[in-house]
Amino acid sequence: MIFDTHCHLNDENLYPRIDEVIEDAKKTGVKKFLVVGYDGPSSELAVKIANKYEECYAAIGYHPTEIYKVSDEEYQKTMSLISNKKVVAIGEIGLDYHWIKDVEQREEQKRWFIKQIEFANEHHLPISIHNRESTEDCVAILKEHKPLYGGIMHCYSGSVETMKEVIKLGLHIALGGTVTFTNAKTPKEVAEEVPLESLVIETDSPYLTPHPHRGEKNEPKYICLVLDEIARLKDMSKKHLEDVIYKNSCKVFNIDE
Ligand code: NI
Repeated sequence: MIFDTHCHLNDENLYPRIDEVIEDAKKTGVKKFLVVGYDGPSSELAVKIANKYEECYAAIGYHPTEIYKVSDEEYQKTMSLISNKKVVAIGEIGLDYHWIKDVEQREEQKRWFIKQIEFANEHHLPISIHNRESTEDCVAILKEHKPLYGGIMHCYSGSVETMKEVIKLGLHIALGGTVTFTNAKTPKEVAEEVPLESLVIETDSPYLTPHPHRGEKNEPKYICLVLDEIARLKDMSKKHLEDVIYKNSCKVFNIDE
């Protein structure tokens, strides 16, 4: 049983074929999906999907590149979706310095990240964290504004050292397609070193398609390739790894197995 802890079935590349995408994934052992929002409309659609499909859950929130020009009113409206029982996390939230170079705009990302961590804390929910080329600031914020109900470093791509730091904060490490890339030295090291109890997996579909399907759109059905590679790196039975990771994921989101 597999839990895809970060996928975008709400993305225009997957949503039009959602029935087929879910069925194909279930055939490969995927039992649960966290559909992650990144702005107002995608958060609304994530909740709609979670309400329609029993195996789907939703995360709502604003991705760091999507915060600009969002009115207070729109933010309040999006976050009022929290009253829905299938909303199990706030995300994806965080920092993205790859796309945003301007200092003032980066400051605005920090304010939004903190605001959404505090929102998650008020509502007793974990967070799904996006961090791209911003590790130092991201970790500093997480230390100062601790996510009290845990969370996941989505598509973790940092060093083994940073991994240890964020685990100390009670966060989980999510590995995805990048661990399968043939030249992915650091993600493979992280996979070897990460303690089992802190590990979850994800696809981030339709992005980050695992090897050997790179170039195609990613789908939750490919998550088994991530699992296979981690089992190989950890020299561990796939069944055992799968069981532990599934339990971890349900625990993070407070979902019955
Ligand atoms: Ni994502």
